[in-house]
Amino acid sequence: MKIAIVTLFPEMFSAVTEYGITGRAVEQGLVSVACFNPRDFTSDRHQTVDDRPYGGGPGMVMMAGPLQAAVGAARQWAESHELGQELSRVRVIYLSPQGQMLTHQAVAEMAAGADADKDGQTETLILVAGRYEGVDERFLELEVDEEWSIGDYVLSGGELPAMVLMDAVIRQLPGALGHQDSAQQDSFVAGLLDCPHYTRPPEVGGLEVPPVLMSGDHGAIRRWRHQQALGRTEQRRPELLNEQELDDEQRTLLAGYRKGLKPE
Ligand SMILES: C[S@@+](CC[C@H](N)C(=O)[O-])C[C@H]1O[C@@H](n2cnc3c(N)ncnc32)[C@H](O)[C@@H]1O
Repeated sequence: MKIAIVTLFPEMFSAVTEYGITGRAVEQGLVSVACFNPRDFTSDRHQTVDDRPYGGGPGMVMMAGPLQAAVGAARQWAESHELGQELSRVRVIYLSPQGQMLTHQAVAEMAAGADADKDGQTETLILVAGRYEGVDERFLELEVDEEWSIGDYVLSGGELPAMVLMDAVIRQLPGALGHQDSAQQDSFVAGLLDCPHYTRPPEVGGLEVPPVLMSGDHGAIRRWRHQQALGRTEQRRPELLNEQELDDEQRTLLAGYRKGLKPE
């Protein structure tokens, strides 16, 4: 998969490309990342990328021209492929507090696009990080396919949201996680929150590890974890749980959780 980022602060992205799971995915070649700085696509001495808003008011607005040129260069990079490599489809995404809220489903769909489809095409994401008051609306109309938000609050720039999206997408790529099953247990993947986790030592501050986890009975451990995931989801995010869609085992586990009963 290829991810291009249009940003005034390319250095920030080393946080994703050089560390942890995402850093390893880059190293393994599961994802190629490239940054395109709108300043490199200016023609004036000051490398101007912003200007005052028409109509007056505070702050500055990113100009359409340098952004368009940077997206153009990112498209070319997306389409450059060595012989035998798949062709690429491009999705231009603007990170914006006014966009659709990013969810696991959206992230999983972006990651799935990284697999070559029946036309032999893979998807490249071009992520545009805004700054100042935002970007000229005409750039959005001309170049951007989708807008995504990471939450109902305003950050100073789109770099952190772009990194959030990248991390979430990259960890879904086949081979990115050391243990393939670990993504399956994560919150939201199967529509539930994750169960609680414990590690050594067996006692911390007077609190002990639930005995079932040390029983060696894998069936019982699986049922306990599933019960915890169901119960936690109902307590913390009830809107995620639709009781009608639960099967009989899940209903029994949830009823047991409510009564404080452990699964048989
Ligand atoms: C200070 S914000 C501009 C906010 C804009 N004036 C508004 O209220 O919609 C600067 C940039 O940060 C990014 N940004 C800020 N909050 C965000 C969020 N919650 N999700 C995604 N991007 C965000 C966007 O790229 C935006 O262009």
